[in-house]
Amino acid sequence: MVTPAKINLFLGVGPLRADGYHELATVFQALDLTDELVARHEPSRIRLQVAAGGPKLPTGPANLAVRAARLLRERAGVTSGVAFELTKRIPVAGGMAGGSSDAAAALVACNALWGLKCTPGDLADVAAEVGSDVPFCLHGGTALGASRGEVLTPVLTSGTFTWVVATSFGSLSTPAVYGRLDEMRHDEVVPPPAVPTELLAALRSGDAGTLAGALGNDLQRPAVAMRPELDLLLESGRDFGALGAMVSGSGPTCVFLVADHEGALDLSVSLSGTGLCRTTLVASAPAPGARVVTG
Ligand code: C5P
Repeated sequence: MVTPAKINLFLGVGPLRADGYHELATVFQALDLTDELVARHEPSRIRLQVAAGGPKLPTGPANLAVRAARLLRERAGVTSGVAFELTKRIPVAGGMAGGSSDAAAALVACNALWGLKCTPGDLADVAAEVGSDVPFCLHGGTALGASRGEVLTPVLTSGTFTWVVATSFGSLSTPAVYGRLDEMRHDEVVPPPAVPTELLAALRSGDAGTLAGALGNDLQRPAVAMRPELDLLLESGRDFGALGAMVSGSGPTCVFLVADHEGALDLSVSLSGTGLCRTTLVASAPAPGARVVTG
C-alpha cells in the first residue's frame, strides 16, 4: 500500500462543539509524499512493526493503523489477523496526517487481505470513527471537508501544484494547538467557517499565484505562538520567492507553494541553509488516496 500526506489549503476553524471537536470548513489536498504499508496474513493477531531505520512510534493500539484494523475486524465480525510493516516518509506529528494516512492504508489493505468486500462508503464510515482526517486519506485528490473534517466533497482542479515541505525539529500536539486557539479567542463569537470562493476558482483554473493568495489556516496563529521560530521559517520562504507559505494543519511542518519543480529545488536548498528546519522535501499535488500497489 502507498498512502499520501495531506495538507489543508484552507483550514477555517469554527466554534468548539459539545463533543470536543471544532466545526471546520477546510480544503484538503493529498501530496505524492507517501508512507508505505505492507500487510501480510497472520492467523489472529494484529501487529505492526516499523521498517528498519524508521522513527520510534507506538506499535500497539495507540497506533492508528492498528486501531483501524481492529475496528474494521470488529465491524466485519471476522477473526483474521494481519502483520503490518510500515515505512515512514510522512513527518510524524507534523500536521500532515501521517498517522491518519497509515490508518486509511490499513483499512484498504485489510479489506483486500480478509476478503471483506466493504464498499468505499463502508470504509469511510470506519475511517471517520478512527479520526477526522482518515476519510480524506482514503479519498485523496482535493476535497472540501465539513463538520469535523470527515464529510467530504470532491473539488475540481486543473494541473498539478508543486510544494516544498519543511519539516521541523520536534512535534506539536493537535489537541494542544486547537486548545491554544480557543484560549486566544477568549469569549469571541466565532462565526461559522467558510472556504473562500477565490480559492476554489484558483484550483479550477490551476493558477498557483492566485491559489497562493487564497491560502489560509486558522491554526497557524496558535501554532506560531507555541513555536515562534515557525514565523521566521515562513518569512524566509517568502523572501526566497515562495508564492505562498503556511503552517500545515496543526504544524509544525510548514509548506511553501512554488511555481514549478525548478523553483522547488531552489527553495529547498535555500531553506535548508537557514538551519530553521530539519529537512525539506519536494512534493506534487493532488495525489491519489491510500491504494494497493502490489498483490
Ligand atoms: O479526529 P482526531 O482524533 O484526528 O482529532 C484529534 C484532536 O484534534 C481531537 O481530539 C480534537 O482535540 C482536535 N480536533 C478538533 N476539531 C476537529 C478535528 C480535530 O478540535 N474538527
